[in-house]
Amino acid sequence: MSFLSATLSRVKPSPTIAVTNKAQELKAAGKDVIGLGAGEPDFDTPENIKEAAKRAIDEGKTKYTAVDGIAELKQAICAKFKRDNNLDYKPSQVTVGTGGKQVLYNALMATLNPGDEVIIPAPYWVSYPDMVLLAGGEPVIAAASIQTGYKLTADQLEAAITPKTKWLIFNSPSNPTGAGYSHAELKELTDVLMRHPHVWVMTDDMYEHLRYGDFEFCTPAEVEPRLYDRTLTINGVSKAYAMTGWRIGYAAGPENVIGAIRKIQSQSTSNPCSISQWAAVEALNGTQDFIAENNKMFQRRRDMVVDMLNAAEGISCPVPDGAFYVYPSIAGCIGKTSPAGVKIENDEIFATALLEETGVAVVFGAAFGLSPNFRVSYATSDEALKEACTRIQTFCASLT
Ligand SMILES: Cc1ncc(COP(=O)(O)O)c(C=O)c1O
Repeated sequence: MSFLSATLSRVKPSPTIAVTNKAQELKAAGKDVIGLGAGEPDFDTPENIKEAAKRAIDEGKTKYTAVDGIAELKQAICAKFKRDNNLDYKPSQVTVGTGGKQVLYNALMATLNPGDEVIIPAPYWVSYPDMVLLAGGEPVIAAASIQTGYKLTADQLEAAITPKTKWLIFNSPSNPTGAGYSHAELKELTDVLMRHPHVWVMTDDMYEHLRYGDFEFCTPAEVEPRLYDRTLTINGVSKAYAMTGWRIGYAAGPENVIGAIRKIQSQSTSNPCSISQWAAVEALNGTQDFIAENNKMFQRRRDMVVDMLNAAEGISCPVPDGAFYVYPSIAGCIGKTSPAGVKIENDEIFATALLEETGVAVVFGAAFGLSPNFRVSYATSDEALKEACTRIQTFCASLT
């Protein structure tokens, strides 16, 4: 018997990290590589937030805090939910963790029993299925299609629900597609959930503030207030405030679930970094002006990338509503052969050939549960994006 835990054999290492490693290897070997894999903004944390962190250090706010967050941050989170989502939460319904990732993980650990099913719409963020498996649950993948803009339909949700379903994990705007559900589209899903009172919804609203054009963000408990008692609303400061390294995420929901999450955290990591918590107070309570500024830049990049990819032979790229990803289909490239003689049989082979033959690193669609596609992150400079898209166009044109 292996020395390692049997649970580990149920999960795979992150494919996005594997792509990053391969790109770094090629870079180290002197190849001109453009990475389009990053899941974080390419600019620095705003000054007012950095100043708040420096003040926290100077004022000695450097000791253990309450396990799941300081009172000031919980207050700021309650105010944020009221301001942005019209949701009323008390501080006792709020938990703060080391990134949204830890909150999601703890929530699944706190609620899943062996055999419990969790519905995950595909394409999905790579960590959801493996977190469910680590927590002893069973991921049930419900694949959305490009025809519905990568959004799950009510019928698909209905078909995925069984007596064993515990959670639906919902993510809008989505990583990896950028797709955002309108109020009407989300209402169709919440109507299904109203017919199945044993199913709870874990909503990952991490990209709430990164939205473009006339897309309006909404979240399940806001769209269907009767779901409030079985919704865990997860969010964080990583993406909107360019704070990925600070590691602060949070959730609000029923007190018993929040208490269970706290219990796990109390026996594992304890409190998230005290300094980062004070920075997050400033992020949530301070000026929000730069979000609109950043969104203008992201929208410009999105439009350029979508246009350039749609001009590439064999690629079809829907226009996303938010986040900083696009998720083009490469159905028109499958079966062709690259200049180096590689037969493009699937999206993983496409991404590997693209990297080796042109130096552009993207993440293949199979990693996100829907093929044949790849994910581009446009959280990088305009010049790099333009050059990368030009190389993709040339590569696609050279396939025979
Ligand atoms: C959809 C989604 N949820 C959650 C996270 C986790 O964010 P963090 O742990 O940095 O707060 C990410 C990060 O990439 C994400 O894309």
